[in-house]
Amino acid sequence: MVLDMHTHILPGIDDGSRHTGDSIEMLGMEVKQGITHIVFTPHFYAQKVSVEKFLSRREHSSVHLKEKLQDTKLDLQLYCGAEVYYFPGIGKADMLPQLCIEGTDIVLLEMPFAQWDKQMVDDVRKIIEKQRLTVVLAHVERFIGFQKDKSAWDEMMKLPLYTQLNGECFLHWRSRRFGLKHLQERDNQVLLGSDCHNLTSRQPNLQEARDIIRKKLGADTLEEIDALGKDLLHI
Ligand SMILES: [Fe+2]
Repeated sequence: MVLDMHTHILPGIDDGSRHTGDSIEMLGMEVKQGITHIVFTPHFYAQKVSVEKFLSRREHSSVHLKEKLQDTKLDLQLYCGAEVYYFPGIGKADMLPQLCIEGTDIVLLEMPFAQWDKQMVDDVRKIIEKQRLTVVLAHVERFIGFQKDKSAWDEMMKLPLYTQLNGECFLHWRSRRFGLKHLQERDNQVLLGSDCHNLTSRQPNLQEARDIIRKKLGADTLEEIDALGKDLLHI
């Protein structure tokens, strides 16, 4: 089981794939790269759209894509989820369970691209402790550069949550160093996602990333990542 935890493959719903044909091609690339399980995680911005509208758009898009997929021989397990953008008060937002990855209690949470603060940490803590949901912080490598003051980051990383790294993180030397260190420090609590949006500038790229992880940290690390994905998706 090899999971792509973070994708924008569902067509016509966010800034990801625009056409079903592109989505099918992206799924084909995933299969070629050895991916067996994919979570669709279109952006959800609470300020822009209601949960009801988001879920109905996602349903429409996924039904349409799955219909077209039947004409292909692609063998994939697909899950609907969301990439939920943080907002103040999200810790108490009772709509959050509806945005979990289907069949799970997992929220893929995108934090602000800014200095994190105590309120953000408290909100995430409430999601975990009061709402009893499982938090996966999306592409954490993209936030570290904003943390001039690391105290909120450090507090966040002490919470019982999981983090997700993008494949992209391992393809450039500077972020690769962060990614490899993060994998080692957060032993068995990290997932990978391609965060693919299209067929050009942001393609599915987990194979390349996984090859680098295997080479630098060994096959055991990949096995742990895959085992965690399996565990979280109840497979
Ligand atoms: Fe994303």
